[in-house]
Amino acid sequence: MANTETRKIDRLNTESDRRVEERADELTRSETQFKMRARLLDIASEAIIVRDMNGLISFWNAGAEKTYGWTREDAIGRNIHQFLQTTFPVPHEQVEKELGEKRFWHGRLTQSKRNGERIILDCRKTMNDENDAVLEVNRDITTVIKAEEMLRASEKLAAMGRVAGIIAHEINNPLAAITNIFYLLRNHPLLSDEPRALVERAEQELDRVSHITRQTLSFYRESKQPIMIFMPELLDDVLELQQRLLRESKITVRRIYQSTAPVTGYPSELRQVFMNLVGNAIQAMAEGGTLGVFVRESTDWTKNQRGTIVSVIDTGMGIQPEDAQRLFQPFFSTKSTKGTGLGLWISQGIVQKYDGRITCRTIRGKGGNVTCFRVFLPGIGALDRAHHVENDTASHELNAPAAH
Ligand SMILES: Nc1ncnc2c1ncn2[C@@H]1O[C@H](COP(=O)(O)OP(=O)(O)OP(=O)(O)O)[C@@H](O)[C@H]1O
Ligand SMILES: [Mg+2]
Repeated sequence: MANTETRKIDRLNTESDRRVEERADELTRSETQFKMRARLLDIASEAIIVRDMNGLISFWNAGAEKTYGWTREDAIGRNIHQFLQTTFPVPHEQVEKELGEKRFWHGRLTQSKRNGERIILDCRKTMNDENDAVLEVNRDITTVIKAEEMLRASEKLAAMGRVAGIIAHEINNPLAAITNIFYLLRNHPLLSDEPRALVERAEQELDRVSHITRQTLSFYRESKQPIMIFMPELLDDVLELQQRLLRESKITVRRIYQSTAPVTGYPSELRQVFMNLVGNAIQAMAEGGTLGVFVRESTDWTKNQRGTIVSVIDTGMGIQPEDAQRLFQPFFSTKSTKGTGLGLWISQGIVQKYDGRITCRTIRGKGGNVTCFRVFLPGIGALDRAHHVENDTASHELNAPAAH
């Protein structure tokens, strides 16, 4: 009997040992699986967040740390939408309602990073089976959205340029005929003084129309092949063309050409840009002054691109702060009947086509204003940080000794 009892106990012991082993195995397996899952969630570049129905965060992966700049310790236990200052595309209640009904929601949110920067996120929310937690997978798409917006804007500009070019071309021929007719009319022997004065006024207005079509056409006109352009040569051409006006307006010209690196492109287009900038500078210095034209190599650090900077600087009336935002808009002009307001818009369109940038600023000082229009054109190949010298301000450039 004692033997039977002992055997029974032994069997039970073995059985319970086996069960304990099995359970331990199971636990190790599930712990390994859990760790693996957590590691997988950390590898994901998306922000993966789990929060309860009160919005309190219980899980925050490495992707979330990277996306928002907040660590796991910062985030756990916080209310997700207050913490990240979420803005929903539709009312928040609607999002929660949809989540409750369909157990899933997909949309775009705007949230804040730790440094205050607002970012746009592609967000997927899934409710768990127990209805007590929500898994959120968020991807930062801010740069994609910005790039799309820029592309749309440049496509719009290109399309506008094409339409404007076609219209200008169509208008140009009848315009030339009308100009000739007015010329004949003005000199007609039967015309008395009063109608002659009216004809002259009409001719002046016609001049303005011609100016608009010329500007628009030159924007659209394309040469066959891009070529190497040496900015000093091109700028000398422009200054030569403007020489009469410069002399008449008593403007001294300073040129400093520190770079001969070429830019690849169409000379007619770039000539157009600098004719506009020099033209504006001359118009801004009705009482005379100094025009600076400087060329140097530089780097656009936002794109890590080496290129050429041309600065056109004047000591004229300056740009009013309230106008600064609008200078590059089409038809913005402060010159009443003398300007069409297309010059800078066209110039910016051309420069953007070269993947370049045009910026301007006026520095107001005791000695007067200095206005600088700066054009960056990417040109030379590899980036060479060693030779990069960032050493100028508009006033520094004007005070520098002239090379010519
Ligand atoms: N160097 C400058 N100094 C002061 N204001 C300037 C200068 N360059 C441009 N502006 C301002 O920017 C406006 C827009 O210039 P933009 O060249 O586009 O047109 P515009 O010169 O008026 O006409 P146009 O189409 O004949 O060039 C000007 O009317 C002027 O107010
Ligand atoms: Mg102009």
